[in-house]
Amino acid sequence: MEQELIFLDRNEFNYSPSEEVIQALKDFDIKKLCFYTRIYDEGKKSIFSVFLSELYGVDESQVLLGYGGEDILKQSVHYFLTQADGNKTMLIPKFSWWYYKSIADEVEGRTLQYPLYEAGNTFKYDIAAIKEMVENERPKILLLASPNNPTGNGLTPEELDELLSFVPKETIVLIDEAYASFVTEDNSYISKLVNKYDNLIISRTLSKFYGLPGLRMGFGFISKGLEKFIRYSNKYLGYNRLSEDIAIAALKSDAHYREVARMMNESRKMYEEEIGALPGFKVYDSVANFILIKYPIELKPALQAAFAEENYKVKFMNEPDINTHLRITLGRPEQNRIVADTIKRIARQ
Ligand SMILES: Cc1ncc(COP(=O)(O)O)c(C=O)c1O
Repeated sequence: MEQELIFLDRNEFNYSPSEEVIQALKDFDIKKLCFYTRIYDEGKKSIFSVFLSELYGVDESQVLLGYGGEDILKQSVHYFLTQADGNKTMLIPKFSWWYYKSIADEVEGRTLQYPLYEAGNTFKYDIAAIKEMVENERPKILLLASPNNPTGNGLTPEELDELLSFVPKETIVLIDEAYASFVTEDNSYISKLVNKYDNLIISRTLSKFYGLPGLRMGFGFISKGLEKFIRYSNKYLGYNRLSEDIAIAALKSDAHYREVARMMNESRKMYEEEIGALPGFKVYDSVANFILIKYPIELKPALQAAFAEENYKVKFMNEPDINTHLRITLGRPEQNRIVADTIKRIARQ
């Protein structure tokens, strides 16, 4: 029998959905799919945006919905890089998700990278360098990712506030928080920041912490001042009604997903202790559902062969200056055990 492939390469979810999510699917009234939502009669976009508005304490009109975080990001980048002012510049982190540049390229945008520096076992944002680049380049969009993929580091609410305080109003600050629920349960900074600044968009998703990448549900929070973009983004006839119900059930079952995150943290420690101790290896601190490992590049072919033999897919990074690195999704403990043992076996050959 052919062995099942284990995917630890795209930060997906190898655990079970919560009971509430399973129940929501079972209880879903199929007749709902025969009609558009009527919630727009009340001037709202979705039962999910209403739910998010209450949960995050942000006005419903400032909640964005999209087909995954990718859609919120794409809508934002396409909209703001094609304005009449002709400003097509977007700043992105040096090591980051390839998709940011790709969506800017789709509208002939100009992407510039600001540095991230390595300090001990972590990467850090260089706030002074970002400030200087913002002053020199006057970008249309400053994109921040917190936590960042693949480096795993993020910005604190205080650092975000500091950054926003020096960015001119004409520059949109777009924060990709796809992995932010792993960092803290306290989301109170979101309403403070979107109501304090006029140029902020925060993008989140059900795909990572809530483990539902196949649901394609993303959401965002946006400053009041960006009304035109809110109108552009809103869907007049509503959103996927099945996805709305499942998304609400997922956000209501935080405890289940906190427990999964706790188990992932145990595995993270295991990787730090066991792989971090191998000569030539380095495990970076991260606050997400993946870890980044630097390995001796001469081991690459042997590692690739060993993972292929185990039927495990992990991500061998190829990007400049971060190409002797592996990004591995935190799977179930027994999967993480196999990954660690595979690396150890090759490292000791
Ligand atoms: C940094 C980052 N942002 C956003 C996403 C978007 O995920 P989704 O479109 O599934 O919400 C991903 C997915 O891997 C990601 O790594």
